[in-house]
Amino acid sequence: MAYGLPYGMASRNFALCALIVTFFSVTLGQTPPKSEVLPEFLALLENHTVTQGRDVSFTCVVNHLQSYKVAWIKSDSRAILAIHTHMVAHNPRLSVTHNGHNTWKLHVTNVQPNDSGTYMCQVNTDPMRSQTGYMKVVIPPDIMDLDNTADMLTAKENGDLMLRCRATGNPEPVVIWRREDGRNITLRNENSVKRTARTFEGEQLHLRGIQRQEMGSYLCIASNGVPPSVSKRYYVNVRFKPLIKVSNQLVAAPVDSDVLLQCYVESSPKALNTWYRNNGVKLLESEKHDISEIILNDYAYQLNLTVKRLDKSDFGTYTCSAENAFGKAEGSIRLQELQISKSTTASTQNTELIEKYIWRKQTEKKGKKYSYMLNKTESDLTLKNVGHTTPMSRRNLSSSSPNIANKSRISAFPPPAPAPAHSAPTRLDVQNGVKSLHDSRLCHVGFVMIVLVILIHD
Ligand SMILES: *[C@@H]1O[C@H](CO)[C@@H](O)[C@H](O)[C@H]1NC(C)=O
Ligand SMILES: *[C@@H]1O[C@H](CO)[C@@H](O)[C@H](O)[C@H]1NC(C)=O
Ligand SMILES: *[C@@H]1O[C@H](CO)[C@@H](O)[C@H](O)[C@H]1NC(C)=O
Ligand SMILES: *[C@@H]1O[C@H](CO)[C@@H](O)[C@H](O)[C@H]1NC(C)=O
Ligand SMILES: *[C@@H]1O[C@H](CO)[C@@H](O)[C@H](O)[C@H]1NC(C)=O
Ligand SMILES: *[C@@H]1O[C@H](CO)[C@@H](O)[C@H](O)[C@H]1NC(C)=O
Ligand SMILES: *[C@@H]1O[C@H](CO)[C@@H](O)[C@H](O)[C@H]1NC(C)=O
Repeated sequence: MAYGLPYGMASRNFALCALIVTFFSVTLGQTPPKSEVLPEFLALLENHTVTQGRDVSFTCVVNHLQSYKVAWIKSDSRAILAIHTHMVAHNPRLSVTHNGHNTWKLHVTNVQPNDSGTYMCQVNTDPMRSQTGYMKVVIPPDIMDLDNTADMLTAKENGDLMLRCRATGNPEPVVIWRREDGRNITLRNENSVKRTARTFEGEQLHLRGIQRQEMGSYLCIASNGVPPSVSKRYYVNVRFKPLIKVSNQLVAAPVDSDVLLQCYVESSPKALNTWYRNNGVKLLESEKHDISEIILNDYAYQLNLTVKRLDKSDFGTYTCSAENAFGKAEGSIRLQELQISKSTTASTQNTELIEKYIWRKQTEKKGKKYSYMLNKTESDLTLKNVGHTTPMSRRNLSSSSPNIANKSRISAFPPPAPAPAHSAPTRLDVQNGVKSLHDSRLCHVGFVMIVLVILIHD
């Protein structure tokens, strides 16, 4: 410690001496200005493409500068920005640094669009020597909020909607539209000629004669090669009167079982849905009735009514109804008792086997009736899934057709969910199946033989 200080001072003095000696020798040895060795640039000035708001610098490397000075000039505006390290331009975003040797840098912070142009690093020889570099300022895309365009757009079905998306940026952004869920955009011209495309390019997306399937989220995406691209979401709402489709208008189930009645509804805005009995009594959620709905898409849903532990008074007509501001729709389902043959019941005490049956046509003819019976040997179809299809299609009620109750029809159960695609409101699915939802825990009937009675045409 006692030796440290004098030693340190000595070493610093020595360093200072060396520096001064070096300085003088360099100064004395330096050739005066206007000697034959002229300043020369060691590298080209860079070209820069800069995103607005970023910082950037130009680097100018000059050898043999001697007493000449380096100046920075914005050559398109002829403004002198700096001479040596002295700033001339009154722009706080500009600065110059010199590394004490041969390198000068012009720094531009928080680059703005008006900073773009040609920059020159110049040495005041006669004639002057210079180099130029170009700065291009790019701006990532932005989507302007057009105050006349709400994000939520609503049209009546078959009406028109115009979606607008104004984007700014440099270079000029390209605007494309696509649906958020990846479905194609449907475009119609003035003559309602339709085409679909995954994307549409342009600031305006004109949806003519809009249909319910075109409801949903649309994105406008603006990009110009300068990241990040931006997007804006528009929710397109299509309004229409409710539509109800009933795939099973006739349902048969045995006493004591639970039965599921279903209605498919399309509605926008969402409808008020209710279930009624034929006597006009509105059904509420209770121990007897389990009411639920599942949303299938933006405008379609499935209404389920489970009637539990059927008794005689539960048979009859059920109506599902959907109502919104544009109108009302109804669908009816007839619930019939499915007779269970006594003989089979007697022989079927095993409740585990009950699930292993298939319907089989009984050749036995009872007067004007055909019977369909369970035969336990044929297949593994579970009873729960064996909707037993009857020839009781309304349209074909009078035409005798015993073959309709066929294995192939049975295996088609449960009926395919109604296509979400729009179909004519008047169309009803006439594949009227009769199905029973069997709950083996509740219904200890054991081995069941179910006889379905069909009236046939004389
Ligand atoms: C800068 O751009 C100019 C003109 O486009 C070109 O002549 C020059 O070589 C470029 N400089 C560099 C360093 O690439
Ligand atoms: C360049 O634009 C910035 C920000 O827009 C502004 O503050 C500045 O005055 C402009 N400079 C010139 C020379 O126009
Ligand atoms: C969606 O549009 C593309 C063309 O953009 C077409 O090739 C494709 O078949 C369309 N898909 C459907 C499901 O229409
Ligand atoms: C309605 O019934 C169908 C068919 O059984 C079932 O898939 C669906 O989950 C049920 N929905 C509700 C909400 O219970
Ligand atoms: C069930 O079907 C098999 C053959 O398919 C037949 O031999 C048997 O008699 C049938 N049983 C009843 C109860 O119909
Ligand atoms: C009704 O029966 C006729 C002949 O029996 C048949 O051609 C027609 O397809 C049936 N209709 C339906 C809806 O099953
Ligand atoms: C019933 O099934 C048989 C064979 O399993 C077939 O030949 C017949 O065409 C089917 N009938 C109907 C109406 O599907």
